[in-house]
This record gives sequence, structure tokens and C-alpha cells, in this order.
Amino acid sequence: MTLVLLGVVLSALAQTPPKPLPKPLADAVASAQPGGYVGSSVCRMCHPNVTQDFFRNPHYKSVASGKEPLATTGCEGCHGPAKAHLEAQGGKTTIPVAFSLITPRQALDTCLGCHAKDLNRSDVRRSQHSQADVACNSCHSIHKPQTPKYLLAANQTNLCYGCHGNVRTQFSMPFKHRVNEGFMNCSDCHNPHGSPAATWRSGIRPRMVTHALGNEQPCLKCHSDKRGPFAFEHAAVRVDGCEVCHNPHGSTNAKLLRRTSVFTTCLECHNGAGDFGRQSDGINLQSPTHDMRSPRYQNCTTCHVRIHGSNADRTFLR
Ligand code: HEC
Ligand code: HEC
Ligand code: HEC
Ligand code: HEC
Ligand code: HEC
Ligand code: HEC
Ligand code: HEC
Ligand code: HEC
Ligand code: HEC
Ligand code: HEC
Repeated sequence: MTLVLLGVVLSALAQTPPKPLPKPLADAVASAQPGGYVGSSVCRMCHPNVTQDFFRNPHYKSVASGKEPLATTGCEGCHGPAKAHLEAQGGKTTIPVAFSLITPRQALDTCLGCHAKDLNRSDVRRSQHSQADVACNSCHSIHKPQTPKYLLAANQTNLCYGCHGNVRTQFSMPFKHRVNEGFMNCSDCHNPHGSPAATWRSGIRPRMVTHALGNEQPCLKCHSDKRGPFAFEHAAVRVDGCEVCHNPHGSTNAKLLRRTSVFTTCLECHNGAGDFGRQSDGINLQSPTHDMRSPRYQNCTTCHVRIHGSNADRTFLR
């Protein structure tokens, strides 16, 4: 009995004609383009905060130019056709793309609809951020950006530390790259959108490290004297990469070394039982050339000065 009554009431409600649309909305609905696009100007009526600064947004450029079809410009370029939204006079569920309701994956697809080409230096769909559901709008804020350039939700260092607090500690160590001091950015070495699909060190977790020229390690962009090619390459530098000896962020050891001394750094690889792993040459720690009992021999790079590669000497002595 009550159910029937309820049914009657509900169907009566459903049949109540909708509130008549205020004129601006009715006009916008009447002039909607195929697909249900109504243009950006009508939004101001109900979303004054979001619209008032929008003319400064890089996404406004195409609105200003007036050359772009409504589907790929302005508010509806991201939020989808809004005709139904106007007819309903608002509501989160009536607009095709409400970021508060969609999944990170759907947000990513929305942005990549236009930005896939810009981000083509990274494997964005498979980046560790995308895999972990850290999508575009975790880092970019379209409506309340803290940096006008790149529309970031916070200045870059704070943005990254917001989720990677442990890295802040690394950049506060006695020897470090000066990121906290503002001389460098995370993005000098990382691409938050992901590493390219093919990286210079394919077997190894890419950690979203960027590339310098071509396919090189990012370090060479600034430390170009280490670039080579050298007549005599140190395989460790070329094959394993800078990080095998250096901590890229910071270290308690001078020169950002991973190990407490140069000596222990070298012996990590040159450690064949009692020699440098090259028994056949007969050079070992107690050989005439390397008397390890003498402290003189312990700082390997006082003699092997061109440890990153040499054009003159096979053993990097000059
Ligand atoms: C480049 C894509 C993009 C464009 C263009 C865009 N938005 Fe948004 N909008 C977003 C994203 C992403 C969010 C989620 C909140 C955030 O990240 O800032 C959002 C959130 C919103 C919200 C709800 C949150 C709030 O701050 O009130 C409204 C309303 C909104 N947009 C309206 C608009 C209007 C109106 C326009 C045109 C003037 C517009 N948007 C243009 C991407 C866009
Ligand atoms: C008649 C008033 C009105 C107009 C005009 C209007 N909206 Fe809305 N809009 C609303 C209301 C109300 C909501 C629901 C807000 C809520 O529930 O927090 C909403 C929600 C939204 C949301 C969802 C935000 C979210 O993620 O939660 C987006 C996006 C949005 N509007 C975009 C637009 C765009 C784009 C236009 C212009 C084409 C537009 N709106 C025009 C009233 C309006
Ligand atoms: C309809 C196409 C379109 C969509 C969808 C879109 N963008 Fe854009 N975006 C553009 C255009 C066009 C520019 C301006 C490029 C320029 O300045 O020449 C731009 C600029 C940007 C910039 C500024 C780049 C800079 O150099 O400062 C960022 C950041 C950005 N978009 C992020 C996003 C994010 C995040 C989303 C998803 C929420 C998104 N965009 C969705 C078209 C789009
Ligand atoms: C983890 C944070 C993060 C995520 C997630 C992220 N971005 Fe970015 N994005 C940045 C930072 C930081 C910059 C500035 C890079 C710089 O300083 O060189 C940037 C720059 C950009 C630029 C302008 C420069 C360029 O490379 O073309 C665009 C466009 C852009 N992002 C779009 C997107 C889109 C689209 C997504 C989602 C697919 C996205 N971003 C996801 C942090 C992020
Ligand atoms: C919203 C949170 C968030 C923000 C903001 C963020 N990240 Fe991440 N980041 C993550 C998550 C989650 C992962 C994947 C889990 C992990 O490996 O720690 C990740 C992974 C990474 C990795 C790979 C880690 C590894 O162990 O291989 C790097 C590098 C990275 N982020 C750098 C950055 C940089 C640079 C920025 C700033 C431009 C940034 N992140 C901003 C959440 C975030
Ligand atoms: C000088 C270049 C450089 C700078 C600047 C840099 N990174 Fe890194 N980062 C690297 C390299 C290289 C690795 C990979 C190390 C490895 O594989 O052993 C790495 C690894 C990481 C990792 C994963 C491993 C870990 O230690 O947790 C995260 C997360 C990370 N970086 C975040 C950041 C953030 C956040 C910033 C900025 C505050 C930043 N990085 C600045 C070069 C850099
Ligand atoms: C954006 C430029 C830039 C990039 C990229 C960069 N560095 Fe540096 N690096 C510097 C500068 C500048 C210094 C000088 C020290 C300072 O800033 O205090 C430095 C210092 C160093 C030092 C210590 C030198 C000394 O005499 O104490 C080492 C080791 C080093 N970098 C290794 C690396 C490695 C490894 C990478 C890649 C993971 C890298 N750098 C990427 C700019 C860069
Ligand atoms: C085999 C270990 C090893 C590898 C790999 C390595 N380095 Fe070094 N690097 C060292 C040692 C040891 C020192 C300290 C030399 C000294 O104090 O005499 C050093 C010093 C440095 C310095 C400061 C002094 C100088 O020569 O400018 C920079 C900068 C540097 N390395 C950058 C790099 C870069 C960039 C890479 C990758 C291209 C790299 N290193 C790879 C071992 C290595
Ligand atoms: C990650 C491993 C690794 C580390 C660390 C390392 N090396 Fe090497 N080193 C190699 C490899 C591999 C070769 C090539 C060996 C070969 O060709 O037989 C090599 C070659 C050399 C050679 C030339 C040998 C020859 O006859 O061609 C010298 C000298 C040398 N290393 C010195 C050092 C010193 C000094 C250090 C410490 C600063 C060091 N290495 C750290 C792996 C490493
Ligand atoms: C006092 C100078 C000096 C110091 C210090 C020194 N070396 Fe050498 N090292 C040499 C000379 C000279 C040669 C070349 C010997 C030859 O050509 O027969 C050599 C050759 C090598 C070779 C190549 C072996 C080969 O087959 O030719 C390796 C590897 C090496 N040193 C590693 C080290 C390591 C690791 C340390 C630090 C523990 C170190 N050296 C410290 C002078 C030094």
C-alpha cells in the first residue's frame, strides 16, 4: 500500500515540468552545437571563481583565437559537452567529466586527449606515477595553480617533497646537489611523466630519469667533461652509469660517493681475491705497483686521476 503510494508520488515528481531555464541558459542550450557544446561564456554565471582568472590560463589561448571547434577548446575541452548540465541547471553528474568523480586513469585519458604529443619523450601511461594512480591533476592544478608556468599545484620542490619526504633528507646531507637552495630542480634529472620507453640502461628500473642528448644519462648535461667518448673508457662509467659510484641526491661522503672512501668504492668491483680480479696480469694489492700496506696507495685517484675515462692512458693515470 505504502509502496504504491510512494510510486504515485515519485511518478508525479518525475512529471513535474523542470523549472524554466533562465534566459542565458535557454539561449545557450538553444544555440548548442552538434554534440551538445554550449561554449565557455555561460559558465561564469554559476562558476565565477573558476572563470574569473581563466583568461590568464594557457588553456584560454585557443578560446581567444576563436579558431578551435568548441569540442577542443575552453571549459568543454576538458569537461565535455555541457548542454545537459545547463538543462539540469548544474549538478556533478550532469557534466561528462567531473574530476571529483572520475578515476585517475580517466583524468589521465582526458588530458592526454590533447597532450599525448607534448609528452612523447616519456612512456607516460606506464610511468611509475601513472602505475601508482598519480595522475596529471595530482601535480597540475588547472584552476588554482601556484606557478603560472606549467600550472603546478605547488612549487616543484615542495610538490615532489609532498610525497617523497625521504628525498628531502638526502638533499640536506653534507654533500649534495643544491636543490633545496634553488640552484637545481628535480626535473633536471627526472621526468615526472616517466622515462622514455627505451632507456640507455634497459635492464635497470628506470626511476623516471631523464635523458640528456640522445639517449645519455642526465648528468652529462651539466658534467659534460665526463661525456667522452674516450679512447680508454672506464667500463663502470659507461656501462653501469654514474650512480654505481655516486649518490645522485646527496651523501655523507665527499664528492657524493656512495662509499666512505675512494678506496672502498673501487674495491667493490676490483676485488678479486687479493688482486684486482685480473690474476693473469699478476697485479695485486701487494704488487710492486700497489702496496696496499702503504697509505699512499689507498687513495686510488691520486694516481688514477682520469677515473671517468682517458684519452691518453689505458689505466687512467693521465
Ligand atoms: C585543462 C583542463 C580544464 C579546463 C580547460 C577547465 N577545467 Fe575545470 N577542472 C579541471 C580539473 C583537472 C579540475 C579538478 C580540480 C583541479 O585539479 O583544479 C577542474 C575542476 C572544476 C570545477 C570544480 C572544482 C572547483 O574548483 O570549483 C569546476 C566548477 C570547473 N572545473 C569548471 C570549469 C569551467 C567553468 C571552465 C572554463 C572556464 C573549466 N573548468 C576549464 C580541468 C579543466
Ligand atoms: C545554472 C548554474 C550552472 C551553470 C550555468 C554551469 N554550472 Fe557547472 N555546476 C553547477 C552546480 C550547481 C554544480 C554542482 C556543484 C556541487 O555539487 O558541488 C556544478 C558542477 C560542475 C562541475 C563538476 C565539478 C566537480 O568535479 O565536482 C563541472 C566540471 C562544471 N560544473 C562545469 C561547468 C561548465 C564547463 C559550465 C559551462 C559550460 C557550467 N558548469 C555551467 C551549476 C552550473
Ligand atoms: C582540448 C585540449 C586540451 C586538453 C583536454 C588539456 N589541455 Fe593542457 N593545454 C592545451 C593547450 C592548447 C595548451 C597551451 C599550449 C600553448 O601554450 O601553446 C595547454 C597547456 C597546458 C599546460 C601548460 C604548459 C606550459 O608550457 O606552461 C599544462 C601544464 C597543461 N596544459 C596540462 C593539462 C592537464 C593537466 C590537462 C588535464 C586536466 C590538460 N592540460 C588538458 C590543450 C589541452
Ligand atoms: C608527479 C607530478 C606530475 C604528474 C603526475 C604530471 N606532471 Fe606534467 N609536469 C610536472 C612538472 C614538475 C612539470 C615541469 C617540468 C619542468 O620543469 O621541466 C610538468 C610539465 C608539464 C607540461 C609542460 C612541459 C612539457 O613537458 O610539455 C605539460 C604539458 C604537462 N606537464 C602535462 C601533464 C599531463 C597531461 C599529465 C598527465 C598525463 C602530467 N603532466 C602529469 C609534474 C607532473
Ligand atoms: C601525489 C604524490 C606524488 C607526487 C606529488 C610526486 N610523486 Fe613521485 N611517486 C609517487 C608514488 C606513489 C610513486 C610510486 C611508488 C614509489 O615507487 O615510491 C612515485 C615514484 C617516483 C619515482 C620512482 C621511484 C622509484 O623507486 O623507482 C620518482 C623518481 C619520483 N616519483 C619522482 C618524483 C618527482 C621528481 C616529483 C615532483 C615533480 C614527484 N615524484 C611527485 C607519488 C608522488
Ligand atoms: C642530479 C640528478 C638528480 C636530481 C636533481 C634529483 N634526482 Fe632523484 N634520482 C636521480 C637518479 C639518477 C636516481 C636513480 C638512483 C639509482 O637508480 O640508484 C634517482 C632516484 C630517485 C628516487 C627513487 C629512489 C629513492 O631514493 O627513493 C626518487 C623517489 C627520487 N629520485 C626523487 C627525486 C626528487 C623528489 C627530487 C627533487 C627534490 C630528485 N629526485 C632530484 C637523480 C636525481
Ligand atoms: C643541472 C646541472 C647538473 C646535473 C644534471 C647534475 N649535476 Fe652534478 N653538480 C652540478 C653542480 C652545479 C655541482 C657543483 C656543486 C654544487 O652545486 O654545490 C655538481 C656537483 C656534483 C658532484 C660533486 C663535485 C664535487 O666537487 O664535490 C658530483 C659527484 C656530481 N655532481 C655528480 C653528478 C651525477 C652523478 C649526476 C647525475 C645523476 C649529476 N651530477 C647531475 C650540476 C649538475
Ligand atoms: C667507478 C666509479 C665512478 C663512476 C662510475 C663515476 N664516478 Fe665520478 N668520481 C669518482 C670518484 C672516485 C671521484 C672522486 C675523485 C677524487 O676525489 O679524486 C669522482 C668525482 C666526480 C666529480 C667531482 C670531481 C671531478 O672530476 O669533476 C664529478 C663532477 C663526477 N665524479 C661526476 C661523475 C659523473 C657525471 C659520472 C657519470 C658520467 C661519474 N662521475 C661516474 C668515481 C666515479
Ligand atoms: C662498478 C664496478 C667498478 C667500479 C666501482 C670501479 N671499476 Fe674500474 N673497472 C671496472 C671494469 C668492469 C673495468 C674493465 C676491466 C677490463 O677491461 O678487464 C675496469 C677497469 C679499470 C681500470 C683499467 C684496467 C685495464 O687494464 O684496462 C682501472 C685502472 C680501474 N678500473 C680503476 C678503478 C678505480 C681506481 C676505481 C675506483 C675509483 C674503479 N676502477 C672502480 C669496474 C669498476
Ligand atoms: C701510487 C699510484 C697508484 C695508486 C695510489 C693506485 N694505483 Fe692502480 N695503478 C698504478 C699504476 C702505475 C698502474 C699501471 C701498472 C701497469 O701499467 O703495469 C696501475 C694499474 C691499475 C689497474 C690496472 C691493472 C692492470 O691490469 O694494469 C687497476 C685495476 C688499478 N691500478 C686499480 C687501483 C685501485 C683500485 C687503487 C686504489 C686501491 C689504485 N689502483 C691505486 C698506480 C697506482
